[in-house]
Amino acid sequence: MKKRIFSGVQPSGNLHIGNYLGAIKNWVEMQDQFESIFCVVDLHAITVPQDPQKLREKTLEIAKIYLAAGIDPQKSTIFIQSHVVQHSELAWILNTITKMPELDKMTQFKDKSQKDGREGAQVGLYDYPVLMAADILLYDTEVVPVGEDQKQHVELARNLAQRFNQRFGQTFTVPDVFIKQEGMRIMGLDNPAKKMSKSAISEYNYISLIDDAKTVEKKIKKAVTDSGSELEYSDEKPALKNLINIYACFSNQSPEEIVKKYQGKGYGDFKRDLAETINGFLADFQEKFNSYSDEQVLAILRAGAEKVEKIAKEKMKEVREKVGFVM
Ligand code: TYM
Repeated sequence: MKKRIFSGVQPSGNLHIGNYLGAIKNWVEMQDQFESIFCVVDLHAITVPQDPQKLREKTLEIAKIYLAAGIDPQKSTIFIQSHVVQHSELAWILNTITKMPELDKMTQFKDKSQKDGREGAQVGLYDYPVLMAADILLYDTEVVPVGEDQKQHVELARNLAQRFNQRFGQTFTVPDVFIKQEGMRIMGLDNPAKKMSKSAISEYNYISLIDDAKTVEKKIKKAVTDSGSELEYSDEKPALKNLINIYACFSNQSPEEIVKKYQGKGYGDFKRDLAETINGFLADFQEKFNSYSDEQVLAILRAGAEKVEKIAKEKMKEVREKVGFVM
């Protein structure tokens, strides 16, 4: 039997090449080998304020991105998180076995709540990793393919699975995280010390999946590089390392091969080719992205929800029995 994978993306902000390289590209490569479930996590998105109409649009947009990137609905199931109510129900139950210090230490919460301070942050934002654990455990997920920033959250899911099993008897599969090396942490083009982010203030931080070719060229040209003129792949040159990683992922070459190719040439050649490579991918991706209608995508998402709801209902029946609810 195939192992099951589960992952998701939030419908907020602009999806960028970091989301694609850190997560979605790997899902596409894994979908033949695994039984795959991919979710658009709208319940997670509302942990920060969203415009309701925009949220609806973004939710469908993310599903189109999955399809355009190569997720095949014949092989993988895609659905909207809020369509399967069991996610919220399990999150509540998992809340009752989660300890405050486990959430206090979450880097993402610390980062995201920085703007308004802890006092201004919503409980939902704080509790976000528990909902993510519910997403994963509801389906007895065995492997969770994500970028590095989500590793801490998957570790919480592992701990909660083990704790629940210990207290109530074997119920949940303990999931493993899957992180692929080169794409795991794509950094900002304007600042290689911070990860590329949907909520970055400057648009020169990221390359959006819907940027046009001219914009990509401009952003790559403006991307910071390290001092010197030779292409080098090392931790001492984090800006170049990041650009080489992006190139490596898009061209399926190793960083070493790329460095060798540009020996004796300036950064200019490298950057020109990098922009061309990204644009080659985006042209094909965007053509597919624009070819789906909202109705088409919604039909796929509804069918997906119907399919996974069966698994979720069965798991929740077991959970309800175990914790002592009257059946
Ligand atoms: P989200 O929406 O922030 O990001 C989606 C995916 O993109 C990855 N990612 C990156 N990878 C490499 N470099 C970057 N700069 C970069 N930025 C983002 C993320 O690691 C992620 O894999 N909580 C999750 C969504 C979620 C989920 C789940 C994931 C909800 N439930 C269950 C897996 C399983 C999130 O907010 O991802």
